Amino acid sequence: MLAGKNILLIIGGGIAAYKVLELIRLLGKSGAKVVPVMTSAAEEFVTPLSVSALAGAPVRTALFNLEDEAEMGHIQLTREADLVVVAPATADLMAKMAHGLADDMASTLLIARNKPVLLAPAMNVAMWENAATKRNVDTLRADGCAFVGPDEGDMACGEVGFGRMAEPAAILAAIEGQFTEGSLNGKRILVTSGPTHEPIDPVRYIANRSSGLQGAEIARALLARGAQVVFVTGPAAAARPEGAEVIEVETAQDMAAAVEAAGALDAAVFAAAVADWRVAQASNRKLKKAAGKALPKLELVENPDILATVSQRKTGRPRLVIGFAAETDDVVANATAKRKRKGCDWILANDVGGTRPVMGGPDNQVVLISEDGAETWPWMSKKQVAEALAAKISEALA
Ligand code: CTP
Repeated sequence: MLAGKNILLIIGGGIAAYKVLELIRLLGKSGAKVVPVMTSAAEEFVTPLSVSALAGAPVRTALFNLEDEAEMGHIQLTREADLVVVAPATADLMAKMAHGLADDMASTLLIARNKPVLLAPAMNVAMWENAATKRNVDTLRADGCAFVGPDEGDMACGEVGFGRMAEPAAILAAIEGQFTEGSLNGKRILVTSGPTHEPIDPVRYIANRSSGLQGAEIARALLARGAQVVFVTGPAAAARPEGAEVIEVETAQDMAAAVEAAGALDAAVFAAAVADWRVAQASNRKLKKAAGKALPKLELVENPDILATVSQRKTGRPRLVIGFAAETDDVVANATAKRKRKGCDWILANDVGGTRPVMGGPDNQVVLISEDGAETWPWMSKKQVAEALAAKISEALA
């Protein structure tokens, strides 16, 4: 994905600097060349030796270093880069950037750059929420800087809130996102999303907790890469993705029909939480209670399995079929068996029985199961999961 890309990585002085070592490893794995620069504060948290060993390149630290400058001038460093990444982007580094200060190697490179920049902020929650930081972030956004994170959670300082640096996998996905424009041009991809409603009578139905957010974010991430997206959604709370061909359905049977009608597809992502059963004989009149009358008995019948039907098509099967698996026990084992049973290429499994809510919540933690085994992704926002998935899809369809 990042083969041949040159990333100028500026490491700021914060405890999150240790996570940058993992980021460097991930960047190397995806084929990028990392040119590391550390502020003097960063050197208090990780050693230049570790950084340079992982990056396979010398670390630049001081601005006025004869040897470094003789080898490659600092201006040249930004000219050769495809992207500048600042991680962790401390309050101090962002303040310098917002005000155009240039008193060390990192800040000088940032003001001298002629390439896009991606910031991964990390700081204590009060620093992040401080009015000055907010002003600086607004200025940097207006200047065209891209951001990933910060995340909400426990911090090294013991406080809880926004300020934790995004996980290395999420930063990698955001870096890939900087190079993705058009990577799915001309590809037609179906996304199912949201819950289904299975009527009992005209006022009651069987539903589930799906908000449709993960499906909508996947559609957006695919659209951002130039894909043509057919978005088949049940009655979900989440906003519909702009630019997609949106087909609103209510029941699993409607969803199955809409998917059949979608025509030829390069890939299909089944993110909908489809009801497994519907009421055999939904009443067209409201069921009434009356003294002495027996309780209504709901007889259920199985709904068509849309994912399995598309996965097992004899003709016209999309090249890549991706399902989700919502599990409460033995997540990986159950989802691995589900992938085989349904015949899809990948399954994104998530634990919906944990204490942190996935269904209806803003974040997700998935395990990607393919023929090659299981790959556990860290907790990320649903948007970040969608971006990481869109990156994998572009790679697979390339
Ligand atoms: N799915 C589908 N049609 C159905 C049921 C599920 O397309 N009638 C898809 C979902 O969109 C998801 C995947 O199948 O991508 C797995 O859904 P899940 O509810 O986890 O699995 P089930 O097949 O319902 O199996 P079980 O309830 O036994 O876990």
